[in-house]
Amino acid sequence: MGVGALILLGLLAFASWCAIHRIRQIGTPGFKTWPLIGVTLEVAANYHRIYDWLSWNFRVKETMTMSATMPGRSYVFTVDPANVEHILKTNFANYPKGEEFHEIFEPLLGNGIFNSDGEPWRIQRKTASFEFSSRVLRDVSCRVFKDHALKLARIVHGSQEPLEMQDLFMRMTLDTICFLGFGLHLGVLAPNLPRNDFATAFDACNAIISYRFADPFWKFKRFLRIGQERSLQRHLQVVDDFTHSIICQRRLQLQDQPKDHQQSRQDLLSRFMLLDESFSDDHLRDVILNFVIAGRDTTASTLSYFTYMIASHPDCATKIYQELHEFEELQLADNSHRPSSFEDKIHGFTQLLTYESLAKLVYLHAALMETLRLFPAVPLNFKGVVADDVLPSGAMVKRGSTLSYAPYCMARIKSIWGSDASQFRPERWRRDGAWDFSISSFKFTAFQAGPRICLGKDSAFLQMKITAALLCRFFEFQLVPRQILTYRVMATISFANGVKVTTSNRT
Ligand code: HEM
Repeated sequence: MGVGALILLGLLAFASWCAIHRIRQIGTPGFKTWPLIGVTLEVAANYHRIYDWLSWNFRVKETMTMSATMPGRSYVFTVDPANVEHILKTNFANYPKGEEFHEIFEPLLGNGIFNSDGEPWRIQRKTASFEFSSRVLRDVSCRVFKDHALKLARIVHGSQEPLEMQDLFMRMTLDTICFLGFGLHLGVLAPNLPRNDFATAFDACNAIISYRFADPFWKFKRFLRIGQERSLQRHLQVVDDFTHSIICQRRLQLQDQPKDHQQSRQDLLSRFMLLDESFSDDHLRDVILNFVIAGRDTTASTLSYFTYMIASHPDCATKIYQELHEFEELQLADNSHRPSSFEDKIHGFTQLLTYESLAKLVYLHAALMETLRLFPAVPLNFKGVVADDVLPSGAMVKRGSTLSYAPYCMARIKSIWGSDASQFRPERWRRDGAWDFSISSFKFTAFQAGPRICLGKDSAFLQMKITAALLCRFFEFQLVPRQILTYRVMATISFANGVKVTTSNRT
């Protein structure tokens, strides 16, 4: 038999094997796999809607834990709160970020807090914890958040055109994290919407790098410098230039300050610089970028989805407005002076918003919790597996595989949240006639849980509540019709094309 015939026979045998493999899957719910490449094709085809595709798989397979393979990789996905508790707390040591995650995110997050394990993570967590436990910082943050929410409200008020809110929120949170975290006045939240090359490049890096989880051939592409891997280098250069300019400015400012004044300087970057003067600029770059993703993307995306939710649920927007109106009336009860101009009104209202008074805005809090439940800023969370293990559900996980719990999918599981799981319903947070936000962090996983629970939760709520209160008190939002509101798949969730609204003023 000739070589040609042998090849033909081989191809035929392979095609039959593939066909039999697929035929045997007919009628079985969930992932469809191919020999050798596993779910690679299905993932590529569904990547643009990956969180919903995963949710659909959990539903049709009627399971809370499932596995999938790709060449050289195996994944276990879970939405089972008992498994989540095991991963994040009970057997925490067995589920670090892991080598694969580290390698994938290394170009963007380097060895920063989100991308490190063991001692390097512990040192950064400890250093950053001081920052978040400080009362002084809380007061400074409150003032900074109010100033920026006011800026935003003025932009919304002055606009005659539809507004893209996600861009505005991202600008606002970039300005606030740069000021609070690194002592820098950036000023990208301004009526003329100045160019923001850093943000564009940072988002591009985030999206390209996140795709590596779905692409078993990314290392090959990186080696050949082709496709997205090629443009990654260009975007990284913009990101690096930005961070190095922050470091230079901060070093110069610190040099000019007397030593005792340096110690009292509260921003996070200075704290890292003073902790160890030998920290390289590259390490400080990682600190900056990790806090940009933590402080900018998460809060801005939650505010964007919140805007989407209240614009598409006008009854909820009305309830939030009523709560804010009553709150205002109560606080102004013994004050006879009622401002009449818009500027005086927003200014007066903002002054009523304090850390303590915000606690009274329970419906607003419930609406934010509901937004975070349905659109968690980190929709899929990946962990490495150090040693073989059995999860509480009985599922086996193998050393070297990747284990992922999926907050986005968990929110849509009826056995966790009830038959209306997929609906936006702030009243969900009311039990036995009272608002109740105490919930297991292994069920409501938006902020993660266990030793690596989010450090910025309180700060994020402070900013989100101040901003949302100001916007909902003075404006009504309507979605621009016929826009496509899908997400862009990245480490953090965000709208692929932003969220466009028209606004009308509330008196
Ligand atoms: C709505 C807003 C926020 C949400 C939903 C959120 C959620 C999360 C999640 C899910 C994680 C775990 C990520 C992972 O390890 O894969 C995390 C970690 C973290 N978050 Fe947040 N976050 C928010 C805002 C913030 C803010 C404003 C800051 C600070 C400026 C912050 C600081 C951190 C830090 C430092 C960690 C790393 C903790 C560690 O690994 O030890 N977060 N956050």
